[in-house]
Amino acid sequence: MDGNSIQAHGGGILVYGDVYYWYGEDRTPDLYSAVSCYSSTNLTDWKREGVALWRRDLPKFNGHHIFVERPKVIFNPLTRKFVMWMHMDQDRYLFSRAGIAVSDKPAGPFTFIKAIRPVADTNDFSANDPDPAKQDIYGGTFRDMNLFVDDDGKAYVFYSSAGNWTMYVARLNDEFTGPETPALENKTWARILVRQMREGPAPLKWRGKYFLITSACTGWAPNAANWSMADNILGPWRTFNNPCVGPNAKTTFGSQSTYVLPVPGRTNAFIFMADRWNPNNLPDSRYVWLPFSIKPDGSFYISWRNHWNFAVFDAL
Ligand code: GAL
Repeated sequence: MDGNSIQAHGGGILVYGDVYYWYGEDRTPDLYSAVSCYSSTNLTDWKREGVALWRRDLPKFNGHHIFVERPKVIFNPLTRKFVMWMHMDQDRYLFSRAGIAVSDKPAGPFTFIKAIRPVADTNDFSANDPDPAKQDIYGGTFRDMNLFVDDDGKAYVFYSSAGNWTMYVARLNDEFTGPETPALENKTWARILVRQMREGPAPLKWRGKYFLITSACTGWAPNAANWSMADNILGPWRTFNNPCVGPNAKTTFGSQSTYVLPVPGRTNAFIFMADRWNPNNLPDSRYVWLPFSIKPDGSFYISWRNHWNFAVFDAL
C-alpha cells in the first residue's frame, strides 16, 4: 500500500484468476470518483488500481447529479465483460435505481449502461405507505444491494425494495446486464424478508443452502445484524437472530454488513465484511473484517477479534 487509507466503502470482492479485486464507494474528497478498485493477491496488501467508475461519466437525472452506493462487480463468462451493479440515488433517496456498467478489464474504466428498477411488479405500493419514490409507476425501489453468482453460473441481485420494507431477489439475464425477463414472481424474482425492513444484504452459499446476513435500517448508525437461510434462493427464507456474539454484538461491532467473501480453496471459511460508518466524515469510515465458519447444523457465530490470520479457520 501507499500509506493512504482504502476508499472502498459499501464494497464487495471479485475473485478473478489469482487476484482479489475490492470495489467500493470512493469518497476521496474532490476526486469526483464514484467507484474505486483495489487489488490484492493475499487479502492483506492492497494496491489502488484507481477509479473504476467516474462520477462525470454518470448521467444527470431530472437535471440533478446521481451518486453511487454499494457497488459490486461480477464476471460474465459469456460476454467476457466485468459487470458492475450499484445503488444509484439522489438527495432524499427517491431516485433509487440499479445502475449497471460494464468493462473489458477488471479495474475499469467501466462504462455506464443504464439505471433501472429491475422489477416493475404488481404491488400496490401506495396502499400501504406513501409512495414518494413513485413505485406504482417505476417499480419497487432499489437501494442496499448485492450480487451473487450461483454454482450453476446464474447470477442474482438482492436489494432492499418497497421503500426498504422488503428485500427482493431477482435472477439476472444471461449477460448479467438486467433482470431475467419476462419477470415472473417466484419464478425469476421473489419478495423475501417481507416487511422486515432489512438492509446491507450479504449472501453466501454453504452445502447447497443459501444464507443472507442483513442489517436493520437505521441510516449510518450501526444496529444488530440477523441472518436468514433458504433451500431455494427465491425462498421461502427463514430468519434467525443476530449471529454476532460478545461485546458490541448489538451494533454488529459498530458496523453494518456489506459482503461475505468465501475464502478460496476452503469449503467452510468466510470473511464477514462490514462498514464502520463515520457519519460526520464519511471518507474516514472504516472496515470490519471477521472470519467465521458454519457449524454442521447450519448455525454460525461471528465474534470480535483484534487480530487474526488465516490459521484461525483451522480452529473455527
Ligand atoms: C444506510 C445504508 C447506506 C446508506 C445510508 C444513508 O442505511 O445502508 O448504504 O444508504 O443508509 O443514510
